[in-house]
Amino acid sequence: MKNYIELLKQNNQEHLLNYIEKVDENKKEDIIKQIENLDFEQLKLLYETSNRETDKAIQGIIIEHIPFVDKYKLEETKYKELEDIGNSVIKNGEYAVVTMAGGQGTRLGHNGPKGTFKLNIKPEAKYLFQIIAENLQRVNQKFNIVLPWYIMTSTENNQKTVEFFEEHNFFGYPKENVRFFNQGNLPLLDEDGKLLVDENYDIKIASDGNGSIYKSMKKEGILEDMKKRGVKWIFIGAVDNALLNMCDPILLGLTIDEGNKVGSKSVVKANPHERVGVFCKKDSKPAVIEYTELPESMAEEIDEEGELLFGESHIMCNLYCLDALEKIAEQNLPYHSAHKKANYMDENGNVVVAKEPNAYKYEAFIFDGFNYFDNISILRGRREEDFAPIKNAEGVDSPATAIELYNKYWKLEEC
Ligand code: UTP
Repeated sequence: MKNYIELLKQNNQEHLLNYIEKVDENKKEDIIKQIENLDFEQLKLLYETSNRETDKAIQGIIIEHIPFVDKYKLEETKYKELEDIGNSVIKNGEYAVVTMAGGQGTRLGHNGPKGTFKLNIKPEAKYLFQIIAENLQRVNQKFNIVLPWYIMTSTENNQKTVEFFEEHNFFGYPKENVRFFNQGNLPLLDEDGKLLVDENYDIKIASDGNGSIYKSMKKEGILEDMKKRGVKWIFIGAVDNALLNMCDPILLGLTIDEGNKVGSKSVVKANPHERVGVFCKKDSKPAVIEYTELPESMAEEIDEEGELLFGESHIMCNLYCLDALEKIAEQNLPYHSAHKKANYMDENGNVVVAKEPNAYKYEAFIFDGFNYFDNISILRGRREEDFAPIKNAEGVDSPATAIELYNKYWKLEEC
């Protein structure tokens, strides 16, 4: 093992020495451990991709339309057949649900984990975690089972999340069937590729994106736990969609019927320029292309029936068989960089509040896992049944729009 001073010098990070000389022996040891645990080779590679223009990301890659099945255009007998296949998996206790709740929710600006945000729906306001817990309970009652429920947190929000569940008595969900696990982290880098330090003299890190879920589930023993419980199919969804349907037997039935290991629900884009990632094939493999990467002409392209060729939005409603998760967990998903505001502490001990983006954050995306399969099943659902995202504090995809969608959906259900 190289001396930490040597490591810092070799990797252009010797500014950290100025922080180390200001702390006591215990803290010094702590920082040295943090330094020794860094993968400097990886950080160098990440920094090199930071300034890449988005159109370069798809240069030389062939982007094609990917087929999908419309849930509501299925013939009645086929629908029934798929429903039976899906229902039998759920009934047999071979199904589990994972909620991704490790995000920072910066756009929403809620103080606390996003799942603890209270949505002012009718007839009474509910927390996002509560909505999920109650939806799962409904499935449990219907099938007379208890679905294993796994919740991915970040190291930053894990404690608050667990405490919140304890305080609310897990919203009545059988506690022994809920398991929390942490996702990974990566350091932030400033515009010169330097590591940042926070007010506790720690190297500034942040969660490394929802694509971290695959390796984290393996590392934290979640895949092993699923195997022990006889789980064969796993649904992974976001915490911030008030209409997330976590147990759609048609998605499950379709994926099994098509002989695939991965399935995903889509909704058609609200307009060609909606800011969502859409399903496609990249170099003939299933993928999601981000709106920033999709050339305008392709975003507007339609087929002979007038449907957008790249119109199926990825809504973080993904299904995998256990094998598929084990396979993806072995891969190194690419990291995408985002230019963000990050407060830090300067070498004189002053906290600098960033007013403009000043640092790069690196994130793996869950949909990059699709790339390791020749085919995935895509089921087009309906926006009004499947998708009420809560991303921004106001305007598009905000609590206000989610409340409206939620109230409308449940009123329809009551009719
Ligand atoms: P988003 O990509 O919308 O990010 O997450 P976010 O953190 O919630 O919000 P912003 O971008 O900071 O405003 C989509 C889903 O992925 C989860 C989120 O919790 C949400 O369920 N996620 C995101 C993670 O679990 N970990 C991450 O590192 C990022």
